Amino acid sequence: MNQDIAPFWDALYAYRQKGVVPFHTPGHKLQVGPFQRIEAALGSGFFALDPSDEIENAAIDHDFEEALREAEALAAGLFGARSSMFSVNGTTGGLHYLLMPTRGTVLIPRFSHQAVYSAMMLAQGEAAYVPSSYDPEWLIPLQPQPEQIEDILADHPVEAVVLTHPTYYGTVADLSELIQRAQKYDTLVFVDEAHGGHFAFSQELPRTALQCGADAVVQSTHKTLGSFTQTSMLHFNNESWYAKAVEAQRSLQTTSPSLVFLAVLDEVRRVLAEGGADLVGQALELAYECRKQLASIRGVELLPRHLQADPTKIVFSLRELGLTGIEVERLLRMDYNIQVELSDYYAVLALISLGDTRESVARLIGAVADLSKRRHRLSLRPLKRYAVKSPELPPILMGLREAFFQEQAMISLAKAEGKVSGGFLTPYPPGVPVIAPGEQFTSEVIEYLLWCSSIGWPIRGLMPEQKVVILEDNGCLCRKTR
Ligand SMILES: Cc1ncc(COP(=O)(O)O)c(C=O)c1O
Repeated sequence: MNQDIAPFWDALYAYRQKGVVPFHTPGHKLQVGPFQRIEAALGSGFFALDPSDEIENAAIDHDFEEALREAEALAAGLFGARSSMFSVNGTTGGLHYLLMPTRGTVLIPRFSHQAVYSAMMLAQGEAAYVPSSYDPEWLIPLQPQPEQIEDILADHPVEAVVLTHPTYYGTVADLSELIQRAQKYDTLVFVDEAHGGHFAFSQELPRTALQCGADAVVQSTHKTLGSFTQTSMLHFNNESWYAKAVEAQRSLQTTSPSLVFLAVLDEVRRVLAEGGADLVGQALELAYECRKQLASIRGVELLPRHLQADPTKIVFSLRELGLTGIEVERLLRMDYNIQVELSDYYAVLALISLGDTRESVARLIGAVADLSKRRHRLSLRPLKRYAVKSPELPPILMGLREAFFQEQAMISLAKAEGKVSGGFLTPYPPGVPVIAPGEQFTSEVIEYLLWCSSIGWPIRGLMPEQKVVILEDNGCLCRKTR
């Protein structure tokens, strides 16, 4: 397969070069017109690269559909899949396309991204959960153990398992083992590999989910590999599921996908085929250097290796210097003009990718070194540490989708025991829902959420005055426990 061509990119570029007079969408008619500020920022000729796919006409010379098929086949070749699919709605869309066709139970770790939950609202079946625990030192969610998955599969028929590889923090499970255990029960395995697109390009990184035997994976190509924000790829080992996902995509995706987004995915794939190993190799070198330098700064702690298999995700804490991760994020931004990806109570996450340079990494190291010096002068106490024991998963009284669209009411969290939740309540970060729509508030759940709130842990879904959303028709629901 000749990976040195980019058929979709070339088709789009050729259309621009022809200067066709457009009596078709989009309304800007491929001209800058009154939108000078947009073109000044995006570069001249940008509008001319943005036709809609209405110009699709194989009988003339623009068969964009065929070019897309070729581009996706090349992506499949590069990532080691049987088939691939481009998504212009990120990994969120990709997860929706994968899960919408499921009809039975889908098993997901509780810490899964909200896109997995919303995908389960589109699916006909129901979600079942693998409970998530936190690492006690860093409060980051831990991957499920193979035994946990197998215990559930041995007792319940499950159509598909959705795993996350790696987590936002770079934590991975023994993925091959998890997949083998799931497949023993004839269960499909889908992997949310939003943060792992670069794994295919280095032996120093964890094996990809496809290499570990997943039926299908979704990768946010934009997160770690350089395509435009919003662009992802799905890769399939399982051809029959690919056919179902194509149908789901047809029904869920806009009928006017951005051809620029698709072309950028194609061109990024071409560049990666040629130099991906070098580019990711350079990013790894920068990441190793950054870790080494950060570790030598007084008061800086790095997330230990057993919790993190992806060195490009640099998670570090200044808790010994009395700073929360949230404060570190703010100080880096306000005093050093540096923006990290994420912060939580203990740590911040700085991503290194093929877009980084020695200079960008030196800026981060210099800023953290300076921050450390400033804090030492103040000789503050280390940050208070918390032991977090999240509650048992609450009883599920109703499916996610059914509950989500019921009539809702508000009640004070403290008085919610026995009520059925109409929404998610999720301490964030890291974003593990304590209760989801259709689940019943227990005293343990309420106590835990009140505790999170008392220590200032932001809770997504908690309304002003500590109100929560419940189902109006709570009484009859509570009788039909499943
Ligand atoms: C684990 C995980 N899955 C899925 C997504 C959704 O990805 P996208 O932004 O490409 O839709 C994210 C986004 O942050 C994520 O962290």
